[in-house]
Amino acid sequence: MPPRKVMEGKAKNFGKTFSRMIKDFKSQAVLMVFIIILAIGSAILSIITPSLLRDLLNSAQQDLIFIDTITGSINIHWDVFIYKFGVILGLYALAALFSWLSEFAAVSVSARYSYEIRNKLQEKIDRIPLSYFDRVPYGDTLSIGTNDVDNISRNLQSIITQTFRAVTLFFGALIAMLVINWQLALVALVSVPLSLAFVFVISKFSGKQFVRYRNNLGELNGQIEETYAGYKIIKLFNKEADVEERFNVTNKKMEKSDQLSQYLSGLIFPTTFFVNNLCYVGIAVVAGIVADVPTMVVFFMYLNSFTSPIQQIGQIFNIIQSVVASGERIYNLLDQKEEEPDKENSITTEDNIVGSFDFENVSFSYTPDKPLIENMNLHVNAGDMIAIVGPTGAGKTTLVNLIMRFYEINGGTIKLDGISTKDFARNTLRGAIGMVLQDTWLFKGSIKENLLYGNQNATDEDIINACKEARIHHFIETLPGGYNYQLTEDGSNISQGQRQLLTIARAIISKPKILILDEATSSVDTRTEQQIQDALDSIMKGRTSFVIAHRLSTIKNAKNIIVMKKGHIVETGNHQELLAKGGFYADLYNAQFSGLNPMNKNSENTVVDS
Ligand SMILES: Nc1ncnc2c1ncn2[C@@H]1O[C@H](COP(=O)(O)OP(=O)(O)OP(=O)(O)O)[C@@H](O)[C@H]1O
Ligand SMILES: [Mg+2]
Repeated sequence: MPPRKVMEGKAKNFGKTFSRMIKDFKSQAVLMVFIIILAIGSAILSIITPSLLRDLLNSAQQDLIFIDTITGSINIHWDVFIYKFGVILGLYALAALFSWLSEFAAVSVSARYSYEIRNKLQEKIDRIPLSYFDRVPYGDTLSIGTNDVDNISRNLQSIITQTFRAVTLFFGALIAMLVINWQLALVALVSVPLSLAFVFVISKFSGKQFVRYRNNLGELNGQIEETYAGYKIIKLFNKEADVEERFNVTNKKMEKSDQLSQYLSGLIFPTTFFVNNLCYVGIAVVAGIVADVPTMVVFFMYLNSFTSPIQQIGQIFNIIQSVVASGERIYNLLDQKEEEPDKENSITTEDNIVGSFDFENVSFSYTPDKPLIENMNLHVNAGDMIAIVGPTGAGKTTLVNLIMRFYEINGGTIKLDGISTKDFARNTLRGAIGMVLQDTWLFKGSIKENLLYGNQNATDEDIINACKEARIHHFIETLPGGYNYQLTEDGSNISQGQRQLLTIARAIISKPKILILDEATSSVDTRTEQQIQDALDSIMKGRTSFVIAHRLSTIKNAKNIIVMKKGHIVETGNHQELLAKGGFYADLYNAQFSGLNPMNKNSENTVVDS
């Protein structure tokens, strides 16, 4: 299997995605402005306070403390001291409050945003045609809904608050320093290109390693997923050593990129710390010449507000890149072509559905370059049982997919009761049809919950009757808790045949107008199959039913048998007629009894005449 696509570091079209994300925040514009004002306010307060501190220090030398010349004692003007000190403390507290409030508001903005994105994604998935998942692995879509949304929601808050705060701090400190003492300000300015250069170079290298790390992580996750999913197959083919080997290689790569990325990004702090210290020394020296001690102390404080934003912005820049990359993947999914919406005056009630079908010049293919069904014509009377037979890959399931409108036809019309299926709301059409497939679909929950899935109004009596009909009631009774027995995911704690019987019971309970059985009894033993067949026969009575079966003995009673080969109907008729004809069906039928079974072979290899 090729390595899975995973979170990459960079967006392909940064500008476009970025501006689209900004637009998505329009609904929260007021809150955003509030956050920005608070972040800027808090930064401005942090800029003002050091200069007040300088004032306090200065006054400590002048009017705060005075020496009584007579007694020689030192006196302090406590009132002035407490006032000035109080103002500084108050401003610090206010700055903290602002910063706290802006974080608080930012949390709600980002939670809101992720909530809306998750909703949009969910709605989108509901409207996306099934063919999308033929192209895109489920894992990728899942990763967008989880990892990418999470990536945004966890980083958005810090981006919003820190960006504005950092920029304001940087320029605020710069202006304050220039106003107080321009010579010292110049010394402090030297630190900017130095820090910037270091942060830039280090982030560039560490960023690359982070991308590598995330790619390795994705690859490893994919391998783990595959290993668990194919656990039995790996054991069966004795591939444990291979799997382990592959795992070790990826794991080793991951260790290396992890180490490198962490090590490199860990360099940022000590390096800028070193640059800062150099500046402290420079400021101390120059201050000794051109300024006083309080100015020096205040400059030390400013230097901090001045350089830490550079570091922060360097990091935020990386985060923004990855957030925009996530945003791009989300938008890419949101922009996928959707199922055509139901027509405005589409039929939304099942009540009048009788169940006759007409295929008129239907053509369809999954991929444009591989035509499958071409110009198919077929009439099915309401209430008839129609069997569809043919070798593997002939297009039997495809026919069902088209009836259900899981895929849209490329040409022609499929009519139900003389009305194009496109004139029905999809929900109505699908609601009228009960399906039992070879791939049983059961979910985690009690047996009863699973049975009620198609018809919430069924009574306990309905359920039990249906299960008796499907020959599964006695088995359910033996389970601990009976109908309340909890199925695990996919119902993997009962057998494949039992799962099939449950889905048959579920179809019976939903009382569909039309029934589709695609290899519905393929996983049960022949005796049970005969029993179910009897049950199905009685359920199918009066209902239009499409039955796909490989075992031809089960469809002998069908009113009409459609024999398919390579996407085309090659013969139609009832069992006797088709046998008498001595064509493809007769060959298939005879082969099943002679032991040579062309049904199990690829249609290409079947040497029979059509
Ligand atoms: N989602 C898909 N995307 C592309 N091709 C598909 C898809 N599903 C089926 N096909 C192809 O369409 C053809 C018909 O498939 P279909 O599932 O209808 O066969 P079938 O008659 O039901 O076979 P089986 O008896 O094995 O169930 C096959 O060649 C198959 O490879
Ligand atoms: Mg099939």
